[in-house]
Amino acid sequence: SPVGDNLCSSALITSCKECLRRGPQCSWCFKEDFLEEAGAGHRCDLQVNLLRRGCGPEFTENSDVKVDVNATVVDILCAPGSEASFVVAVKQLPRYPVDLYYLVDVSASMQENLDHLKTVGVALSLRMTEYSSDLWLGFGSFVDKPVSPYINVHPTKINNPCSDYEIRCRPAHGFHHVLSMTGNMSEFTRVIKRQRISGNMDTPEGGLDAMLQATVCQRAVGWRPEAKRLLLLMTDQPSHLALDSRLAGIVIPHDGLCHLENNVYTGSTRMDHPSLGQLSDKLLENHIHSIFAVEKQQYQWYEELVRLLPGSYLGKIGFFQSPNLIDLVVDSYKVRTQLPTLFSVSKPAMTKRKTEVGKETAAV
Ligand SMILES: *[C@@H]1O[C@H](CO)[C@@H](O)[C@H](O)[C@H]1NC(C)=O
Ligand SMILES: *[C@@H]1O[C@H](CO)[C@@H](O)[C@H](O)[C@H]1NC(C)=O
Repeated sequence: SPVGDNLCSSALITSCKECLRRGPQCSWCFKEDFLEEAGAGHRCDLQVNLLRRGCGPEFTENSDVKVDVNATVVDILCAPGSEASFVVAVKQLPRYPVDLYYLVDVSASMQENLDHLKTVGVALSLRMTEYSSDLWLGFGSFVDKPVSPYINVHPTKINNPCSDYEIRCRPAHGFHHVLSMTGNMSEFTRVIKRQRISGNMDTPEGGLDAMLQATVCQRAVGWRPEAKRLLLLMTDQPSHLALDSRLAGIVIPHDGLCHLENNVYTGSTRMDHPSLGQLSDKLLENHIHSIFAVEKQQYQWYEELVRLLPGSYLGKIGFFQSPNLIDLVVDSYKVRTQLPTLFSVSKPAMTKRKTEVGKETAAV
């Protein structure tokens, strides 16, 4: 019989609840006297079978998916195996606060990018008024682990790694936190103007080390709890990865904690670079989206990296053009905050229902 091999029908089933639990395809006939002599088990079957055997459609109960959405809660009721999908349209609050931390590679080749940053603060805040009238900026710099072979440890080079070029520059450093989040754009510009470049030996830089500190040193950086948080890494070189530091005899894995003393990262020569997994965890834990603004030759390298960091965004800094960097920040902000989010619940489809809501909520 067509009933024999279907999983709904069973002598063991005595209630509607048990019946619907057997799967989204099962229906229950709640007509009290339906096939009375055959036992309650026969009231559970595929709907098509129930109808054929004389249970009116008004008497069949199916496992239905119920989705209730209001401004704060999505409430989903569904049987095992059924699926619900719905679209949540997310609208930005008009004065949604945004924190953007510039983490800038200040190795010698970055001089022009650094110069260009001086004009970015004000221009960016003007542009972002379209999306947020509450933009705060912060700033930190990095080069690499200040230890051989990443830097030249000759006494004349430690304090001025650029002496070969007859320019004066500052010593290499793992990470310096320079400016805590501020809404004062003149202050941002003033601080950027004071920044000087540094120098080191090898090509890759210590950006991931610096990113982790900027992420976990919440108090120093001054990330606002209610703000959309963006961490922008600006570099023209690839980054060192975990295990790279063995070359310098540094074998201790990163502990994932903040080690700032007077705004200087003190763990640089003691611990390895963080792994991508570790960095990714910390970014998620602290609700920070990373943006990689990299020079176009390095684009491909960072494309691979960004795949391993959920929620990150990659763009080219077309060298030294201010609109370019501003577009990058604005685009990444839009991608992160204005796309509708599709939720899908549970396994194979039986019942599908779409619910559109246009509720105003905080960013997902
Ligand atoms: C949304 O629904 C939940 C649960 O039903 C309720 O507690 C909450 O007050 C509702 N919120 C609004 C804004 O209606
Ligand atoms: C903003 O920063 C500038 C430059 O540092 C300073 O002179 C000014 O007083 C600051 N404004 C406010 C409102 O704090």
